[in-house]
Amino acid sequence: MIDGFSEEEVARYWDANAASWAEQVRGGGDVAREWLNNPAFLQFLGDLRGREVLDAGCGEGYNTRILARRGARMTGVDVSERMIALAVQAERREPLGIRYTRTSYAELGVFADASFDGVVSFMALMDGPGFDRAMQEVFRVLRPGGLLAFSITHPCFLTKGAKWVRNEEGVKIKWMVGDYFDSTGWVERWRFTDAPPEAPEFVVPRFDRTLSEYVNGIIAAGFVLKRIEEPRPSEEYCQAHPSQRGWRDHVALFLYFRAEKPLTPSG
Ligand SMILES: C[S@@+](CC[C@H](N)C(=O)[O-])C[C@H]1O[C@@H](n2cnc3c(N)ncnc32)[C@H](O)[C@@H]1O
Repeated sequence: MIDGFSEEEVARYWDANAASWAEQVRGGGDVAREWLNNPAFLQFLGDLRGREVLDAGCGEGYNTRILARRGARMTGVDVSERMIALAVQAERREPLGIRYTRTSYAELGVFADASFDGVVSFMALMDGPGFDRAMQEVFRVLRPGGLLAFSITHPCFLTKGAKWVRNEEGVKIKWMVGDYFDSTGWVERWRFTDAPPEAPEFVVPRFDRTLSEYVNGIIAAGFVLKRIEEPRPSEEYCQAHPSQRGWRDHVALFLYFRAEKPLTPSG
């Protein structure tokens, strides 16, 4: 066990979240994904048509299916048995040629070296232990010149000690960050933005890492870091969902990384 929770424990938490996660995501209930995160990250990814792509931490496959419909040849892995079962059911209902395997993104032994043109990961690498190992495994399964792109909650702002500071009217006026260097595992209970109060909470083990741990894990695996982005909600999104204005006015909710496996091994 590393980083606070074992992969088996993480899988149990996500097994318990899976049915409600799939229902809400498939019903468009993850509004931050629909309005902000997917439009920005899909643009960040670029065109993957015809490419052999691994989705690391694919969950029940919502975004894996989006990439498959856009022409990528997709494989999805997730540590949660129930998430993978839901993804497989969806593939049977609407075949898109996606292969799913239950395994950890930090243990990709089922895949040969250099078997993918790209590895993508949507909001999953902050939810599991062994980030450095995951980067080494992703590097191994990528072909030279292959793309790594992933999104996570912003590690500088989404710390375990973070919270909104509100004025007398309850308006969010600042975001306070605390415990940035505290890597002790913890469990967060949360709902999607503006989810109805009756929606079950997701119970998620968290693995807080510093920005340098992410960047250095990418570099140490052998990648060349190409670009990072911090998507900012649009005015339109904030007007439709005023609860989200703080992520436009104060701090970034998400962080994206794009890196490449060099064409020739570095000396
Ligand atoms: C926030 S969900 C995102 C799921 C999916 N990418 C999406 O966009 O809906 C995080 C996912 O990461 C998965 N996960 C956590 N640790 C993992 C690991 N070590 N290997 C593979 N998947 C993992 C969880 O089971 C969960 O499905």
